[in-house]
Amino acid sequence: MSSEQVNSPQPSAAETSNSPSTNSQVPVESDPVVREQVKKRRTFAIISHPDAGKTTLTEKLLLYSGYLNVAGSVRARKNQRAVTSDWMAMERERGISITSTVLNINFQGFQINLLDTPGHQDFSEDTYRTLTAADCAVMVIDAAKGIEAQTEKLFKVCALRKIPILTFINKMDRPGREPLQLLGEIEEVLGIGAAPLNWPIGSGTDFQGVYDRLKKQVNLFEPVAHGSLMVPTKVETLDAESSALDPDLRKKLRDEIELLDGAGASFDRDKFLRAEVTPVFFGSALTNFGIEPFLSAFLELSPPPGARDSDKGPIPADRSQFAGFIFKIQANMDPRHRDRIAFVRVCSGRFVRDMSVQHVQSGESIRISRSHRLFANNRESMDEAYPGDIIGIVNPGGFHLGDTLCEGKPFQYKGMPQFSPEHFAILSCNETLRRKQFVKGIDQLVEEGAIQILNDPNAFRKEPILAAVGQLQFEVVQYRLEAEYGAKTSIQKLPYSLARWVEGTPEDLEALQLPTSAMKTLDRENHVVALFGGKWELEYCMKQNPKLEFKTVR
Ligand code: G4P
Repeated sequence: MSSEQVNSPQPSAAETSNSPSTNSQVPVESDPVVREQVKKRRTFAIISHPDAGKTTLTEKLLLYSGYLNVAGSVRARKNQRAVTSDWMAMERERGISITSTVLNINFQGFQINLLDTPGHQDFSEDTYRTLTAADCAVMVIDAAKGIEAQTEKLFKVCALRKIPILTFINKMDRPGREPLQLLGEIEEVLGIGAAPLNWPIGSGTDFQGVYDRLKKQVNLFEPVAHGSLMVPTKVETLDAESSALDPDLRKKLRDEIELLDGAGASFDRDKFLRAEVTPVFFGSALTNFGIEPFLSAFLELSPPPGARDSDKGPIPADRSQFAGFIFKIQANMDPRHRDRIAFVRVCSGRFVRDMSVQHVQSGESIRISRSHRLFANNRESMDEAYPGDIIGIVNPGGFHLGDTLCEGKPFQYKGMPQFSPEHFAILSCNETLRRKQFVKGIDQLVEEGAIQILNDPNAFRKEPILAAVGQLQFEVVQYRLEAEYGAKTSIQKLPYSLARWVEGTPEDLEALQLPTSAMKTLDRENHVVALFGGKWELEYCMKQNPKLEFKTVR
């Protein structure tokens, strides 16, 4: 644990990134209306290992914000009792969440946008992309399990972008690890300071409340049936005369707090905003213990949308002209509509429906008349949006992941991360008569980023080679091709686990020598991608071809 003590959080220097930047080559004057809206926005995602309690925590954050009905549907969505589309049935069968949605919560004057991310590791690419649209993240950890593989992976993506992270240590109502041990693990495994802003009182069946180190308050919770209601909280000081707290637990708590307070420096919000320290909270999403303190700390600590990097310098959020980027594309979200939705994260200015914007990558001007707010299969028209908001717009074709839409002088936001595939398979269409639908389906799934496609330049029949980060992506592609495009397919797995984009002069590329066990393929833009069975083969090949570069991403 870092030697952090707590002081009340103050607005920070790192948050003033909205002030106009002298580096920017596009107009950046601050607009007072946009500035006010930006202050109210909080856009975040929850990262966790499957089963750590992300769905339950989401549900409880909704319950505490007064969104009882929506809270129920989050669980229903996970359990897939209320699915309406066939494709969603696959989620139900597997009990995992494949698609991501956005929840909009109005609470205490804040407009909170919660980006839901699939927990399954095979969809990490989708999650990574969604994280590019978030301004901060909440990391949920199971108190009995500590840092698990998927949490670590997702944490690394946040660290790459330096997204501030709040940590919620969940399931304190069950026997778990010692809090100090958990804090130590966060610091050791993730390499980030861990500052406990509250501290659990008791654990397992004896978990009674949390001590708020900022307010120096003991919060004791009363259990309610099945955690379906907000828990009544009794607030007292650590030295309260007539305490409801068992004297032994009180003594233990006092000793622990003394130890923590004696450890040194104060909680530094700037360090949190720079992703150097994570404030840690303890609780139980199931019983609602600790949800309220966590929610209020979240509103106090989490940053509003800030400036984002572009090829023309950082673009502040609070200028008047609209700009945003596409972080997700999804076809056939709802079979009743059968259209493709591009999810746009608004990063600057004001969006109004029917406005004309420039699609920077194609140079075309596009009027956005169909803009939606989306939750699962429900969509409603969205007439206005501000930085931090997510709008779903009907993709006229031509939109790709990472593209920028903007008003005024064009610029491009920094690109999306792309991940090197690790699973490969040849996909064939079973019925010649459905070939057209098969090709259309593949095109749209590639556009969504659901899968990457390669092809074998030497093959007689040009069947696509699917390249995926996670194995399950193959099954989703096959399932969706059949359910949405009527094309039954067969799959033949290939024995490779590494892909490298090969770069060099045309002559050197022509002279490329691959081990017989490797395979040369081309991506959609005809760049050479070599597939290898393992690291050893790759290293051997690199030695054989010293003039060429072998890159994990292009
Ligand atoms: P996920 O979205 O991260 O995958 O996890 P989810 O919230 O679905 O939680 C996974 C399981 O852990 C669920 O149990 C859930 O009830 C339980 N859980 C979540 N938070 C807590 C907590 O604070 N304490 C305890 N004791 N359990 C918690 P399940 O049996 O798999 O599902 P269900 O039958 O409860 O829906």
